[in-house]
Amino acid sequence: MKKGSLLIISSMMALSMYAQEVAPIAIIPEPVSLEKRDGKFLFTAQTRIEAADRNPDVQRVASFFASQVRKATGYQAAIQSATAATRTNVVSFVLNKGVEAELGTEGYRLEVAPTQVVVKANHPAGLFYGMQSLLQLFPKEIESNTAIARKSWALPAVRITDQPRFGWRGLMFDVSRHFFTKDQVKQFIDDMVKYKYNLLHLHLTDDQGWRIEIKSLPKLTEVGAWRPEKTGTFGTFSAPTADEPKTYGGFYTHEDIRELVKYAADRFVNILPEIDIPGHSMAAVAAYPELSPTPGTYRVSAGDKFMQWNGNGTFYALVDNTLNPASEQVYSFMDKVFTEVAQLFPFGYIHMGGDECAKNFWEQSDAIKQLMQKENLKDMHEVQSYFVKRIGKIIESKGKKMMGWDEILEGGLAPGAAVMSWRGIKGGKEAAAAGHEVVMSPNSNVYIDLMQGDPAIEPPVYSTVLLKSSYNFEPVPEGVNPKMIKGGQANLWTEQIYNTRHQQYMTWPRAFAVSESVWSPKDKKDWNKFIAKVEQHFERYDVAEKKYATSMYEPLISASWAADSTVKVTLNAQIEGVDFHYSFDNSFPDNFYPQYKGALSMPKDAATLRVVTYKGKMPVGRTVTITATELKNRANKNKK
Ligand code: ACM
Repeated sequence: MKKGSLLIISSMMALSMYAQEVAPIAIIPEPVSLEKRDGKFLFTAQTRIEAADRNPDVQRVASFFASQVRKATGYQAAIQSATAATRTNVVSFVLNKGVEAELGTEGYRLEVAPTQVVVKANHPAGLFYGMQSLLQLFPKEIESNTAIARKSWALPAVRITDQPRFGWRGLMFDVSRHFFTKDQVKQFIDDMVKYKYNLLHLHLTDDQGWRIEIKSLPKLTEVGAWRPEKTGTFGTFSAPTADEPKTYGGFYTHEDIRELVKYAADRFVNILPEIDIPGHSMAAVAAYPELSPTPGTYRVSAGDKFMQWNGNGTFYALVDNTLNPASEQVYSFMDKVFTEVAQLFPFGYIHMGGDECAKNFWEQSDAIKQLMQKENLKDMHEVQSYFVKRIGKIIESKGKKMMGWDEILEGGLAPGAAVMSWRGIKGGKEAAAAGHEVVMSPNSNVYIDLMQGDPAIEPPVYSTVLLKSSYNFEPVPEGVNPKMIKGGQANLWTEQIYNTRHQQYMTWPRAFAVSESVWSPKDKKDWNKFIAKVEQHFERYDVAEKKYATSMYEPLISASWAADSTVKVTLNAQIEGVDFHYSFDNSFPDNFYPQYKGALSMPKDAATLRVVTYKGKMPVGRTVTITATELKNRANKNKK
């Protein structure tokens, strides 16, 4: 035999062996129960996909599965609706047969055996989640957007029984600070459902843009959706001038919203609309200045500074961005807004914001002083509470329940309102104790707009939430009646997020972590196991060409002054099993450079410290560079 043909045969063997290898099992979020079985199922061009029910929702779930596998495998697997006589080489989606009622509406059973794969559930949503777990059992190349030639795709034999811990598994997407198109929102939905999220909270209005068409109030989008385009560090830009072209922005028409609602519903996702009032309303008052308690001309904020944040939770407005709680015109305006919002979104709740409303202009307003006298309101909290209660009545009159950020508790909250706790867990505890439904989204754990690693390398945001904090998110605080906690969600504010690539970077892997907090049983969570799974999902993201943050590999750097007046530098790992190598000579270190074993003494004349991370012989994450000046700053802060 010629050498060439030997080579061809051995590479064919390698190819077919490779094709039959099963991927490590790495399902996120961790299922309730997963038993490994012997053997594997080979998905081939001959595998049938069966939707064993005429129910259109079941047909749709099967077709989602078929289209994903078609895209990656190139197999033209068609969906068959009738149960064929032969039970081999088939993937079937079966509704309502032989599954315990306790699995509820979102639970599922997934059995992968060498002969067949069966997903069973009481409800199509359960089949959809079973399908997501099934896709995660395929080799990572199943995430490919183009066909990969393989004879077969091997799946490990397993039996999974699974159901969510919470019914509210949310991600909030701020489409106001930066606008994301309808198709980008659909992509966001596609990404979130892979991790079994079922609620998309759309933050539709804020100072920087009004993003939903209100037909009876056209200026909201004619004026409120547009602003000058600025790039750099949001919050520090120059204030927009009267003649600056307003080229940046956008909004969703009624048609767009209906399309998004349907797209989400097809994937078992509810959309919670948020109209953020009475603060965060600069875009609304730019369109209708008569809604402001402070007469003047307003412009949609373009990322300029107009609030003074004192760093201790207190703040005041430099420009009034509020609605006037003493104006009847404001309530009839909001009635119009909520009439259309309620018609567009079938979900049972409407979020009215209520957060961070500056009161300093309210304190100056004669109309508000008169309102306080008339209604016997003793302070600004009670004024806001008066506003919130009236808004609650409007929202209820549209057949919806009102939800708001935890500030709506201040000054007293009407019964029936639900609270989203963001300033830690205090508001959530208080609201639950007072009998209000609560969704937990504490900024300490699930604010995924914040930095996720050392500020020396992360795009700057004012604070940090590490992956481990997100993983430690526990939606039911100690001492709280779990029945009052509807679930949890992570929030993606977009002041510093200009595009979808960075949106992905900020969301993943922290939203992997939060998915385990809201889906998996508490006692199934395991940080080290989670990290091993995250690494598998990073590989899947590489195949899918989606972006994610590698920050978990990179060191957290602290510095202090040693007794001999040198700077002592400590590198802290976020995960186990990584080594750091460093340089102080400006060159880029690799694994032949000194390995970090304990606190470093910075050479007196060093200009930079550079650190690279290795797992074994493989570099992981990014090289972090920090200047000597910054290290000294950190050492000085440490001294205080
Ligand atoms: C918020 O983060 N202001 C709800």
